[in-house]
Amino acid sequence: MAESNHFSPHWDLSAGEALLQDVFGIVMDEAVRKGTDASEKVCEWKEPEELRKLLDLELRSQGERQDQILDRCRTIIQYSVKTCHPRFFNQLFSGLDPCALAGRIITESLNTSQYTYEIAPVFVLMEEEVLKKLRALVGWSSGDGVFCPGGSISNMYALNLARYQRYPDCKQRGLRALPPLAIFTTQESHYSIQKGAAFLGLGTDSIRLVKADQRGRMIPEDLEKQINQAEAEGAVPLLVSATSGTTVLGAFDPLEAIADVCQQHGLWLHVDAAWGGSVLLSQTHRHLLEGIKRADSVSWNPHKLLATGLQCSALLLRDTSNLLKHCHGAQATYLFQQDKFYDVALDTGDKVVQCGRRVDCLKLWLMWKALGGSGLEQRVDWAFTLTRYLVEKMKMRKGFELVMEPEFVNVCFWYVPPSLRGLQDSPDYGQKLSQVAPVLKERMVKEGSMMVGYQPHRSWPNFFRLIVANPALSTADLDFFLDELERLGQDL
Ligand SMILES: Cc1ncc(COP(=O)(O)O)c(C=O)c1O
Repeated sequence: MAESNHFSPHWDLSAGEALLQDVFGIVMDEAVRKGTDASEKVCEWKEPEELRKLLDLELRSQGERQDQILDRCRTIIQYSVKTCHPRFFNQLFSGLDPCALAGRIITESLNTSQYTYEIAPVFVLMEEEVLKKLRALVGWSSGDGVFCPGGSISNMYALNLARYQRYPDCKQRGLRALPPLAIFTTQESHYSIQKGAAFLGLGTDSIRLVKADQRGRMIPEDLEKQINQAEAEGAVPLLVSATSGTTVLGAFDPLEAIADVCQQHGLWLHVDAAWGGSVLLSQTHRHLLEGIKRADSVSWNPHKLLATGLQCSALLLRDTSNLLKHCHGAQATYLFQQDKFYDVALDTGDKVVQCGRRVDCLKLWLMWKALGGSGLEQRVDWAFTLTRYLVEKMKMRKGFELVMEPEFVNVCFWYVPPSLRGLQDSPDYGQKLSQVAPVLKERMVKEGSMMVGYQPHRSWPNFFRLIVANPALSTADLDFFLDELERLGQDL
């Protein structure tokens, strides 16, 4: 009887340890080794009905044996897309950094929340240091920041902070405290700006779309025009959201000129550098973000180009007045006791709208320790180098037509199959070309040979957007991509 007081009858530690040992082995073999091996499939497509059956998703009252659980782990990995695979060009993230993964494993194993020094002493100090480093790359020697659950949320924070700074009353009085506000961005910006405006009660109507040039960069003269027009219509201009590295075309808005306009009109300048922020690490390419230090806030997702793994997204602020805490704090006394035995300024939980918050700094910190700033710089430069390589190779082949010369690592192009070559002037060319990418996408996914995204954009018919982000990529992987697309499309 005394024994049972010491050991829970529901808890078998040694069986748990054995399971985890086996799971780590499966993860190493199936997710890490095979998941990054070019000779393996990038995905194993199943129709949803078949996949539901294969996964046996139903949750039952009876538990399963350890060997069954291990089989389930294998099955889950088998039918999941291998985003670290060198033939995965589909998203703005790809690739596996072992130190970043080690950081993620430690984070998951320790399972703490970032909100107080009390329960996350290491990570509170680490987050502070990582954010300081990111801010220094932006060009700020002081400021604030926080890791957010993704770039979309970072962008929403920026909107909320800009609004609170101008109208602190709105924290208590809500929308009643506000005149109609205007937010300026281009149609190339990420859709999270629209979502943020809706979510924060500003409404999507408060967004004024500023014209972009052919490459997708904001036109500052049109920004000026839009601001004047908004004012003439009785709206109060609040914020400009410029983008460094747009999602589809990879364009960089001209930040110096935009900052001039913001300064002149007293507007908050937010730079959504979720995608392009990591370019700041490169001495060669950081000029693309010239002027970023004049921003009030910056979103930056190391989980994209730096391959830290999802998710790792920083919102950086120039503010030194504790705006984050004033704007979002609720002073919960059960968590943020002011009479604690340490400096309570280290309890960062009231800077955010969440309560529990994941640790997102460790994966980046550990990777940075291992590679150094110079290793990260090489990673960014390599992506640019490979992009050039791919573009030159495309120009040498028939059937590859660039939408434009890339400025970044987004390679946007049409694959023109043999039957459509030379027919550019025929009236249904655009419509026929638009059908090519979806067919090729289906073929590549069903074969599991590679993955690349496509979209219609502006008035352009469907085109591919290949992202060069995986740090393990070599020229051979890009040659394979070109060969494979030709093979998949030879009968079209
Ligand atoms: C420019 C830009 N901003 C924001 C985001 C949103 O980031 P997240 O997916 O982390 O929410 C993306 C995502 O692709 C993006 O491209």
